Amino acid sequence: MAIRVVRTVSALRRAVIRWRGRGERIALVPTMGALHEGHLALVRAGRRRARRLIVSIFVNPAQFTPHEDLASYPRSLKADLDALADMKVDLAWAPTAALMYPRGFATRIVPQGPATAGLEDKFRPHFFSGVATVVAKLLIQCAPDFAMFGDKDYQQLKVVTRMAKDLDLPVKIVPVATVRERDGLALSSRNSYLSPDERAAAPTLYRVLTDCAGRIARGELLARVLDEGAAAIERSGFALDYLEARHAETLAPIGSLKEGPIRLLVAARIGKTRLIDNIAV
Ligand code: PAJ
Repeated sequence: MAIRVVRTVSALRRAVIRWRGRGERIALVPTMGALHEGHLALVRAGRRRARRLIVSIFVNPAQFTPHEDLASYPRSLKADLDALADMKVDLAWAPTAALMYPRGFATRIVPQGPATAGLEDKFRPHFFSGVATVVAKLLIQCAPDFAMFGDKDYQQLKVVTRMAKDLDLPVKIVPVATVRERDGLALSSRNSYLSPDERAAAPTLYRVLTDCAGRIARGELLARVLDEGAAAIERSGFALDYLEARHAETLAPIGSLKEGPIRLLVAARIGKTRLIDNIAV
């Protein structure tokens, strides 16, 4: 059966109020579409928590800067809706940019803390304000009990978790483990930009992360492990934005294993594509 696609806030609210009236719990999976198995893992995790599932599909202009890939970002609404119908998702929330940001829209959430850790924010200064604003809107519109976010975008997960807590939003933010290709590459809508040669080099990021995590866990000096990891990433054809060891909860810089738990995070560019990944130590 085809999935129900909702395009106005009032229709969305009616569905949500009906479900809530029956005591049914709701899980929301926010996405920008171009769905892959990583997104579908979030859908499955939502299904385990709640009777009702909403997946939002919205390529959020507020989190792209002018030189970024908003115009070319992969869009595949028909295939996305088919995949969600197969998974028995109750409702796809697919607002337009004009509905989300009508003329006169003048409010922005500016997250601090994990949003200013000096990782993604350093390279994409407006990104987390765009993400926080749209996620706050989605959470208020859908009023879910649970909202599923991937570990893949680890800093984003921490920003959203902090925001929900700070704004007393009555939702539990649920992290979901990163889904990977067999060679370790984290699934991402942006992997479709990779040429065959770039695709062949791309698993280096995960290989270096796992190698560094193993060495750090065995007590090797953090700075040296990261220097060697950075060199290995650059040798494989990437331009490195960062490879860092951070506190897994606060994202504060960390000097040694005993200050942990540690999360290793990487961002690097190959050709025109920018990839990010992270793992626990
Ligand atoms: P998008 O990149 O479409 O990702 C939607 C969700 O899927 C995010 O929570 C992301 O972490 C998760 N995800 C992506 N790849 C994954 C993988 N390989 N394994 C597990 N989860 C994965 O992230 C966004 O959209 C946007 O910033 C959004 C939160 C929707 C706000 O616009």
